[in-house]
Amino acid sequence: MTPMAANEKNGRLNTAPPCVMVIFGAAGDLTKRKLIPALYNLKVSNLLSDNFAVIGVARAELNDEEFRRRLSDDMREFATAEVNSGEWQWLEERLYYLSGDFNDGQMYARLKALVEKTDQERNAQGNYFFYLATAPEFFTPVVRQLGRAGLTREENHHWRRAVIEKPFGRDLESAQKLNRDIKRVLKEHQIYRIDHYLGKETVQNILIFRFGNGIFEPIWNRRYIDCVQITAAEKVGVEERGGYYESAGALRDMVPNHLLQLVTLTAMEPPISFEADAVRDEQTKILHAIQRLSPDEAAKRVARGQYDAGEIDGEKVPAYRSEPNVAPDSSTETFVALKLLIDNWRWADIPFYLRTGKRLAARDTEIAIQFKRAPFVLFRETSVEQLTTNRLVLHIQPDEGISLRFGAKVPGSVMSIGAVDMDFDYEDYFGNTPSTGYERLLHDCMVGDATLFQRADQVEAGWSVVAPIQAAWSAAPPPAFPNYKAGSWGPKVADDLLGCDDTQWEITHDITTKKRPHGNHELAPAR
Ligand code: BG6
Repeated sequence: MTPMAANEKNGRLNTAPPCVMVIFGAAGDLTKRKLIPALYNLKVSNLLSDNFAVIGVARAELNDEEFRRRLSDDMREFATAEVNSGEWQWLEERLYYLSGDFNDGQMYARLKALVEKTDQERNAQGNYFFYLATAPEFFTPVVRQLGRAGLTREENHHWRRAVIEKPFGRDLESAQKLNRDIKRVLKEHQIYRIDHYLGKETVQNILIFRFGNGIFEPIWNRRYIDCVQITAAEKVGVEERGGYYESAGALRDMVPNHLLQLVTLTAMEPPISFEADAVRDEQTKILHAIQRLSPDEAAKRVARGQYDAGEIDGEKVPAYRSEPNVAPDSSTETFVALKLLIDNWRWADIPFYLRTGKRLAARDTEIAIQFKRAPFVLFRETSVEQLTTNRLVLHIQPDEGISLRFGAKVPGSVMSIGAVDMDFDYEDYFGNTPSTGYERLLHDCMVGDATLFQRADQVEAGWSVVAPIQAAWSAAPPPAFPNYKAGSWGPKVADDLLGCDDTQWEITHDITTKKRPHGNHELAPAR
């Protein structure tokens, strides 16, 4: 994988091998916002082979010239850095387009002819990968047709791969079926199930932080840690995605994939290497060790919410039920919070609190490790809640960094303790490399490194964690929604979830603006 992997030399990534990338859904948002800007960034970093080409496939009637012109225009809006005309021209002249219907068998014959012609012209050496940036109902038909057209067969040392976008199923049964269907055509090593959270630098850094430093691993367990809080808060609403979101909701959209990735990376045992299966084995063990909730526990340990109208950054925003393509009486949740327990020796009885929601007060994704309080013999006359607990926070976005909170004596004649933060800000140390988050993932797919992609059993294990919640919710009457205001931190039920464990949700200070939200507490006089 990522650190020290086979695709790296002296800490630098190797140029990817020759190949043709075929994007299904090339006229959609993902292509223009992420995939093409990411390919451009890879070119700028010299990570694409000269023998590279992209074929976009979509229903829209376009020719190559029109496709290129469209993407050139889109780059003005979505490139993550200024576009250099030489490098863009290099990529632009390698873009081709095929118009067609994904269910039409004839189209795959035309696609095959175009892929082979492009392969010859560009000397791509027979290596192809198919990126399914389509609606999920096309995953199986496209893979099946690619198989029938003979485009997935690996022979004579060339490779064929398929990248499958999210959502991979909508519950355990549909994910299992999807796995079965695509595995009739592709072998597991050809399937790259993408979770874009794993493309984030700071998510990849969790492994380095935990296993590349001697001081954290010995205290990374139930003896020293009190609880773990994982937050993925968004300010945005559902935007134009009401249609999709109505049938997804916050639980399906974020938990079995993104949030459980963060849980597994935080909780897993050290893998024996950074090889794909070694890492994924350990992640999967955590998913299996997460306690499955009974219907009763699902009611007590999971809270859901839906946003009402409110205000964000001084602007009025509508309720979820007033968003486009959302039912006026929708009972879809836009917020979910849950408490998970992991039944293994490292984590037994230590709660992992997860929460995610739309239209919250801030955009913030972070993993906070809350350590146990110091024994307070010295501070007997001080109320317990005034003592600082150590808190280590891995900031994933928008700030990227790590901070550690500890108590320090406030200068002065009174013995007073203040909570202070020691911060590491990624950008301060390493600068800012323009990135869409897809560069690493696309490159890994080209070099055949599947570490940052989901294996079949991993995806299924993720769904099996949320399955009891889905079952409990579908058996319960519709909740009383809306129950939180846009611009707040979510519904009260989410606070109650932690309140019964005598703790509360915390968002740490913003490391870039260096806000300090913690107060100073006067202690009992030193003896
Ligand atoms: C997507 C979800 O997978 O992740 C979206 O479908 C969500 O609803 C997004 O907004 C969050 O990702 P990021 O990278 O913007 O935090």
